[in-house]
Formats: sequence, C-alpha cells, structure tokens
Amino acid sequence: MTPTPAASRGTLLIINGPNLNLLGTREPEIYGRATLSDVEHLATVAAEAAGFGAMCLQSNHEGALVDAIHAARGSAVGIVINAGAYTHTSVALRDAIAAVELPAVEVHISNVHQREEFRHHSYLSPVCTAVIVGAGVHGYELAVSVLDKVLALAQA
Ligand code: DQA
Repeated sequence: MTPTPAASRGTLLIINGPNLNLLGTREPEIYGRATLSDVEHLATVAAEAAGFGAMCLQSNHEGALVDAIHAARGSAVGIVINAGAYTHTSVALRDAIAAVELPAVEVHISNVHQREEFRHHSYLSPVCTAVIVGAGVHGYELAVSVLDKVLALAQA
C-alpha cells in the first residue's frame, strides 16, 4: 500500500477484494472495461479533490483484507470497500469494520439486487455508513463524496 502525500483531512483507505484485480477483462458486460488501476485513480483523484489522501489496496485474501481494515485504525479517517464475493460470505470482514469504528462505504460496481439471489445479502451493509450499488465505477467517487460529507460533520 503506497499512500498519497498526507492531506489535511487525513487518509481514505480504498479496499478492493477478490477478483477485482481482473477488472477490465472480467465479465465486462457486468463490470465494464475500467481496470483496477483506473478505479484506484478515480477514487484517489476524488479523495484529493476533497482534501484527503488515499491509500489503495486490493487483495484476493480475506485475512489480508481484515489486516488492512485493522491497520486503518489510527492511519485512516474512512474506508471505501468493495469486498467482492466476501461481501456475501464474510462475518470476519463485517466484524473488522465494526471493530475499527471508522465510517465505511460499501461499493458494488454492478447492481447486485438485479443478479443472483446469493448476491442480495451483504454481511457488511449493517456496519457501513452507506451502500452504493449499480453505479459502475462511478460508485467509488460517490463513496468518497459520502465520506467527504460525513467527515465534514465530524471534523467541523
Ligand atoms: C461486486 C459484486 C459481487 O457480488 C461480486 O462477487 C464481485 C463484484 C461488484 O462490484 O459488483 O466480485 O462486488
């Protein structure tokens, strides 16, 4: 994880979970043609425009995602997370988000509610401040915008 330079409002942690390293070539009819690097760039530009730094992480491993969320306590002021398939399976990620007590926004590129039944349930939504689904990769910018507003209230 390489953080962008320290910014006055602190750092946002941008997390992408399993298979999102394949964005751009993975089922483009569902996820579009933007790559992971495009997504991280979009989120970083949005964060910096709002006065934050950004730290981007992608992992296919549940424990690495849990560790990154733990590390966010003390180093980040908010989290944007697309946990991929772990969204629908991981109590561990849910507990990690709850434990660190940082505002977190859950993002899904696709509209999971238009898809298979098993994608309709998220273990993360109850512990996230907001959930953005189906807005494509623009969802990451929307998530940063939500954190901008939520943290503006907290930082006022
Ligand atoms: C996803 C939706 C999940 O159901 C899926 O497992 C993903 C991507 C999305 O961004 O639409 O990997 O989180």
